Amino acid sequence: MSLQNTNPTKTKAWEQLSAHFNTAKDLELKDLFAKDTTRSKRFTIALDNLKLDFSKNKISQETLDLLVGLAKETGLENAIEQYFGGEIINATEGRAVLHTALRNNSGAAVISEEIDVMPEVNQAKESIKAFTEKVISGNWKGYTGKEITDIVNIGIGGSDLGPNMVVDALQYYKNHLTTHFVSNIDGDHVSEVIKKLNPETTLFVIVSKTFTTQETIGNALTIKEWFLQKASKEDVAKHFVAVSTNLEAVADFGIASENVFPMWNWVGGRFSLWSAVGISIALSVGYENYAALLNGAYEMDTHFKTADFDKNIPVVLALLSIWYNNFYEAESEAVLPYTQYLNTLPAYLQQAFMESNGKSVDRDGNDVDYQTGTIIWGAAGTNMQHAFMQLVHQGTKLIPCDFIGFETSLYGKEDHHKKLMANFYGQQDALCFGKTKEEVLASGVTADAIELPFKVFTGNRPSNCITADKLSPNSLGKIIAMYEHKIFVQGIIWNIFSFDQFGVELGKEMAKKLLK
Ligand code: F6P
Repeated sequence: MSLQNTNPTKTKAWEQLSAHFNTAKDLELKDLFAKDTTRSKRFTIALDNLKLDFSKNKISQETLDLLVGLAKETGLENAIEQYFGGEIINATEGRAVLHTALRNNSGAAVISEEIDVMPEVNQAKESIKAFTEKVISGNWKGYTGKEITDIVNIGIGGSDLGPNMVVDALQYYKNHLTTHFVSNIDGDHVSEVIKKLNPETTLFVIVSKTFTTQETIGNALTIKEWFLQKASKEDVAKHFVAVSTNLEAVADFGIASENVFPMWNWVGGRFSLWSAVGISIALSVGYENYAALLNGAYEMDTHFKTADFDKNIPVVLALLSIWYNNFYEAESEAVLPYTQYLNTLPAYLQQAFMESNGKSVDRDGNDVDYQTGTIIWGAAGTNMQHAFMQLVHQGTKLIPCDFIGFETSLYGKEDHHKKLMANFYGQQDALCFGKTKEEVLASGVTADAIELPFKVFTGNRPSNCITADKLSPNSLGKIIAMYEHKIFVQGIIWNIFSFDQFGVELGKEMAKKLLK
């Protein structure tokens, strides 16, 4: 069974949405809130410790109903079944898309191409667990008999961004191991990392699905050369492990087969942190925390699979995004986490969203004549308030924002947390309600003051408020999976293939030619 091919702009729902937009575009958030005191409650969806309040969006109930109609008409229900059911929905590469199987805690089989993938997944988890416990406990010894103190993840793109972001995000839960990431082919990157390392106590994890990526193999060879200046070839087994599908290339590199963790073709690089690609996460925070991260994602998967579309967090996020992208012609979206721990979340999401949905050919092979893809950017609050928020509040562009906040801080510094959260909600209110000329006058600015028009805020700028109890492996797992499914829903509705990435190839080819 293949995915339905429907040009979204030719659907009945699209026609209705276009007609609706003509009046809806004049909706004022201020008025919507004034007319309906239950708006915030009505437009909130809760999933255990996670909540999405989407009331500050330029929508009415009718908008939401029509958007849900669009999802149904473009075959989303069926597509979700195919996604979780192991169908070959990555048709251009002939693969299933099963990162959800990696966190499937239901005990149920996941059959793809007549094979249950779960036994292999569970076996891989067992070996990740045993390996991480051995390293963390100090039972894994380096070539001079010393315990491991440093882990280096060598990878790029999906083999770097996800693990790097999660290790950063969960540093509160970290153990004694120091984790480093080498990704760029820029030799200065690897040199700066090597400078901090002692070969006797460092474990290198080479992560590459293909094991052919120029950056990763280049950096791994440089590191091996540096290692062999002190150690012998036989010592490589104690210091290098790999995560890959390309067992032959891994063996050629000199890594012992018992030190290779599996990857599968049905896991896309940008969705792979749930596989052994996340081994540096498990090493950093311990297997239990890693398993809790996976479980958070599993809980989001279950919600996504079962909740009605208008009560479904990833579906609603995707529909709102389409509303702004395709009707308001918004060019980008900002992701604004109010925790320094998630400062690299936007960079991670850039690959997830833009490599997935930056496509201009539809599932029929025809050029699309409508907008796809969303440009994602952002940074942690409150720092970004002192950087780019001027443009979001008073610039000419409409930039829908996702604000992500947590009810409690991890170190319990109440005073700081109150200030942080006051800013978190203050920004959303300012974007939504603005400040009229009358309010500026009432605040003491005189009618002839030169600054009067510059102090007016139009407001009516949309945002989502995503909150969780605290930043934990569980809530982080939910947040990442929430965005993964948002990407999926958008791709289905835009009628594009979200799981290939041919667009990254030409530049690589050109670089190879130039190198010769
Ligand atoms: O940039 C293209 C890409 O293929 C990404 O999709 C992937 O995450 C990255 O390169 C790394 O690939 P690999 O894990 O095969 O080294």
